[in-house]
Amino acid sequence: MAALNAMNIMKSFGGQKVLDDAWIDVPENWIVGLIGPNGAGKSTFLTVLSKFLEPDAGVITSRNMDVTTRSPHALARAGVVRTFQVPHEFGELTVMQNMLVAAKNQAGESIWQSILLPFRVRTQEALIRNQAEVWLEFLGLTHVAGIAAKNLSGGQKKLLELGRALMTDPYLLLLDEPFAGVAPGLVDVIIEKILELRKRGLGFLIVEHNMDAVNALCDTVFVMERGRILTDGTPQKIANDPRVLEAYLGGKL
Ligand SMILES: Nc1ncnc2c1ncn2[C@@H]1O[C@H](COP(=O)(O)OP(=O)(O)OP(=O)(O)O)[C@@H](O)[C@H]1O
Ligand SMILES: [Mg+2]
Repeated sequence: MAALNAMNIMKSFGGQKVLDDAWIDVPENWIVGLIGPNGAGKSTFLTVLSKFLEPDAGVITSRNMDVTTRSPHALARAGVVRTFQVPHEFGELTVMQNMLVAAKNQAGESIWQSILLPFRVRTQEALIRNQAEVWLEFLGLTHVAGIAAKNLSGGQKKLLELGRALMTDPYLLLLDEPFAGVAPGLVDVIIEKILELRKRGLGFLIVEHNMDAVNALCDTVFVMERGRILTDGTPQKIANDPRVLEAYLGGKL
């Protein structure tokens, strides 16, 4: 069963074909890479796969459910969550507050529930806070839990982005360049966290330019060029495929 599968995905912007018969297959609990030159369509593909953009054509399934017409929030509630190339944290809120806002099923959001079921709301809030503490500890962010998110380093913001996604209890995370702008020391930390999360049952689709990280993490890699999947295979197979090198040289790198 695939955590995510997409076939024949098309997407154009004002006549420009950005995704052209794109496809992907992410088996349950695998770490799959998506690489390709700048402008190839990788972020757009993640945006379509997470349903923040509607595909013009194609089918997306997750765990055998057709999710092509689902809203991004329904998909996230089901367990497929994306992070962004540029982190989307709330800069003025603290790191802890960012984690709490990201939690799903926040009973406190409903005023009626808080009037009619105040005990349940308080219990749920305590559980959510507890979960946030556990993830911040896991990510090594406990010591910055009380500071405004805008004051984090680039790498810490990426970790917070991961933490916010984990608060929704996903089975598949779509990560857009989790290593961009991250200091080398923190790259290894993020790699280690992703591998640990995989051991715990999560799967990943990772868009990334850092090939050391891709090689360290990915079971299989898809190469995108001008909106099409050029080839896929193990990192080793991809590294030795002359068409891949050609795609990068012919791209905007
Ligand atoms: N909302 C949009 N409207 C119009 N064109 C867009 C839009 N989003 C993306 N594009 C175009 O689609 C193409 C693919 O962009 P995309 O950001 O998906 O590439 P990418 O592979 O993620 O590149 P990078 O590696 O630089 O992040 C680019 O030519 C871009 O200008
Ligand atoms: Mg991108």
